Amino acid sequence: MFLTKEEEKLLESPNEGIRKCMEILVAVGEIFGAEKLIEIKSAQISGVSYSNIGEAGLEWLESLDVKVTVDSFLNPAGFDLERWKEMGIEESYREKQLRIIRAFERMGVKLTLTCTPYYLEEIKKNDHLAWAESSAVIYANSIIGARTNRESGITALAAAVIGKTPYYGLHIKENRAPTVLVKIKGENFALAGLELGKALKEGEIPLVEFNRKPSEEELKLFGAALASTSSCSMFHAVELTPEWKDFETPREKIEVDEAEFEKCSPDLIAIGCPHVSKRELEKIYELLKKYGRVKRNLWIFTSRKIKDECSNLVRKIEELGGKVFSDTCMVVSPASEKFNCVMVNSGKALEYLPKLRKVNATFASLEECVRWATLED
Ligand code: F3S
Repeated sequence: MFLTKEEEKLLESPNEGIRKCMEILVAVGEIFGAEKLIEIKSAQISGVSYSNIGEAGLEWLESLDVKVTVDSFLNPAGFDLERWKEMGIEESYREKQLRIIRAFERMGVKLTLTCTPYYLEEIKKNDHLAWAESSAVIYANSIIGARTNRESGITALAAAVIGKTPYYGLHIKENRAPTVLVKIKGENFALAGLELGKALKEGEIPLVEFNRKPSEEELKLFGAALASTSSCSMFHAVELTPEWKDFETPREKIEVDEAEFEKCSPDLIAIGCPHVSKRELEKIYELLKKYGRVKRNLWIFTSRKIKDECSNLVRKIEELGGKVFSDTCMVVSPASEKFNCVMVNSGKALEYLPKLRKVNATFASLEECVRWATLED
């Protein structure tokens, strides 16, 4: 891989952290045949929850003496920084999680603690990024037309420090062409996303024909689900996404229905995987007005920025018995483990809750989730 003189100097840096970050980028670039490094507009770093990275990850982060050089965002952590007690988080867990967050803060990473950085900062078509959270990666590539590979927590951090990423994969226009035309049959697109992920072969990019026009939030849920059952990091949608017309229509065609799921009676209804938008908060409030007060646990997850911007709406939802948490989610927080069955409107959470939190999960539409929350036990 070609390196400029400045880049070569970083491989000899007296700072071990910088040297390591540069070595990581060069190693990844060489594995994937990148011709050079390119500058990035922002990085988004995953592997924040103590439940996911554990003691070894914490110690490694604390040992790093580096600063990020581009806008860098952090994925959700294990609890709401202000309402951790309400979530039933133990003091010892909290301490470890806060050490991780402080380590990132010392590096200059913004403590956004959200998987929806695209709701916080303006990301434009053709911006080069190094994002790690799979749902954010697929959203940025597909819905915005920005360019990012699916980074790991470590490669995203290395890119944040160096301000560059290897130029390969989805950074290159011709690698973004669709390879298979997909007709969606099901009514719920989050479930269809899960099923499509299972049907795709490695490296395929679908051009999707929906059977009705999805909202932007439905596309978000579709993409998050698709990325949770596959390594797919980009889709095109006919008439909807910014690059769908830029390529030839693939000859191979498949039809995809909704994924099936287990049923259980929920003691927690959790919405916000990925974190909810302002519009989704408004919809939840409308539904609560329709169905009445919450009688079971209804937890809603969003970024702190959206929560602050919508403080009136959040207050009204909480007056009706819902809880709106920030900085975390039902999948990365150990708080979900106390429940027997979690109902979600997210294909990704349906897929991950049993695997990562060892808790039963069941699925319903947003409206059904809110209605369930208002039913007596
Ligand atoms: Fe976000 Fe947590 Fe889902 S990080 S995409 S809400 S698993």
